[in-house]
Amino acid sequence: MKTQVAIVGAGPAGMLLSEILHHHGIDSIVVERQTRQYVQSRIRAGVLEQTTVDMLRQYGLADRMEREGHAHDGMKIVWAGRSSFFIDVRQHVGKRFVAYGQTSIQEDLFAAADRRQARLVFGAANVALHGIDTDRPRVSFEADGQTTTIECDYIAGCDGFHGVSRKAIPATVLKEFEKVYPFGWLGILTPRPPLPDIVYANHPRGFALASMRSPTMSRYYIQVPLDTRIEDWSDERFWEELKARYPADLAAAIVEGPSIEKSIAPLRSYVAEPMSHGRLFLAGDAAHIVPPTGAKGLNLAFSDVHYLSRALASRYETGRSDLLERYSDTALRRVWHSVRTSWYLTNLLHRFPSTTAFDQRTQEYELEFLKSSHSAQVALAEQYAGLPLEQT
Ligand code: FAD
Ligand code: DHB
Repeated sequence: MKTQVAIVGAGPAGMLLSEILHHHGIDSIVVERQTRQYVQSRIRAGVLEQTTVDMLRQYGLADRMEREGHAHDGMKIVWAGRSSFFIDVRQHVGKRFVAYGQTSIQEDLFAAADRRQARLVFGAANVALHGIDTDRPRVSFEADGQTTTIECDYIAGCDGFHGVSRKAIPATVLKEFEKVYPFGWLGILTPRPPLPDIVYANHPRGFALASMRSPTMSRYYIQVPLDTRIEDWSDERFWEELKARYPADLAAAIVEGPSIEKSIAPLRSYVAEPMSHGRLFLAGDAAHIVPPTGAKGLNLAFSDVHYLSRALASRYETGRSDLLERYSDTALRRVWHSVRTSWYLTNLLHRFPSTTAFDQRTQEYELEFLKSSHSAQVALAEQYAGLPLEQT
C-alpha cells in the first residue's frame, strides 16, 4: 500500500488530521488497533474550547454539534459548603465553550470519512514504524492473518498514550516530563438533565465535578483513592457521596438517574519532547497527557492537528518544510500552557492524601483570593479558555 501520510490511531486526533489533509488534497491511510465499534463507544471528553469549535466549523464537521451541543460561558467553583462563584470566560475573554461528547465527535468524524470513502484499517495488530529517520518511512501491521506495509512520505503518530509511535523515537532523543497524582476520578454518565453550569467542588471528602453532555445527559465525577474498586460503587453509593461534596442547594438540584457508564481514570501530567523525529510527527495523547481537571486533553489534540495539518499542507502545496521543522516547538507552547493550567486546577481543587495543615490553609486562601479578586478571575478565565492558535 502507498499513501502520502500514514496515520496511526483513529481517535479524534487521527481522524481529524485525515479529514483536514483530505481538504488539502493530501492522501492518507489511518491504521487503528481496535474495532471501529470500540473506538466509537469510548466515553471520554465533553467540553470543547472555542478554538476546537471553530476548527470543527471550518471543516464542515459542526452541523450536529450546532444542533445538539450546549454552549456555556464558564464554570462555577464551590468549596467546603460556601457559596459558589462563577468564572465568566465569555465576559472576561470573549470566548465560550460547547458541551458535546467525544463519542459524538468520533461518530461525526467517521461519518465524514465514510462520505469521502477514506481508507481506514481497523483491528490492525502489531503495528510497527520503520525508517522514520529516512525519507522512505513505512508502517506495517497484521490483519486477517496477513502482514501489510504502507509506504509513505510522513507518519503521524496519533495513537494515544499507550501507542507505539512515541516509542519509535530513540530514547537518547526523547525527554519525558511526568507527574502522577495520588488519586483518580470515578465518573458516571446518566440520562438525566444536568445542572445548568459546570460546577467544580473542593470538599474535605474530596473533589467533585458536575458536567454535561446534552440537556438530557449529565456527567459527574468524584475524586477517589487509586486502589478504588469499581464493583464497590453502586449507583446509590455514588449519588450519596457526590451530593455530600456539594452545598445543600446544589445537592438538591442534582437529578439522580441510572448510570449508563461508570469508570475510573487515574490522573497524570505527561509531556514528551520533541513531538517529532525525522519523518514521524506525534499529535494528541501520543505526546502528552493532562489530568482531566480543566477539560484540556481533546482540545490539545485538536490544536496539535491544526499545526501539523498546516505544516503538511505547506509542504505539499509550496514545498516549504519550515513549518514541519518548527511543528514540535509550536505545538509544545500551547501544550505546556494547558499542562500548567490543568496542574494548577488539579492542585487547587483536590484534597491530597499527604497534605499538611499548612498546605491546606494555603489552598483555602487561594480559593478565597479567587473568589474575591476580579483580576484573579480574569487571569484564570484566560488560562481556562486556552491560548489562541498561533497564526505564523
Ligand atoms: P485517543 O483518543 O487515545 O486515540 C488514540 C487511538 O489510537 C485509539 O483509538 C487507540 O485504540 C489507537 N491506538 C493505540 N495504540 C495503537 C497502535 N499500536 N496501533 C494503532 N492504533 C493504536 N479532554 C478534553 O478536552 N475535555 C474533557 O472534558 C475531557 N474529559 C476527559 C475525561 C476522561 C475521563 C478522560 C479519560 C479523558 C478526558 N479528556 C478530556 C481527554 C481526551 O479524551 C483525550 O485527550 C483524547 O481522547 C485524545 O485524543 P487522541 O486521538 O490523541 O487519543
Ligand atoms: C469534563 C468536564 C470538565 O470541565 C472537566 O474538567 C473534565 C471533564 C467532562 O464533561 O467530562
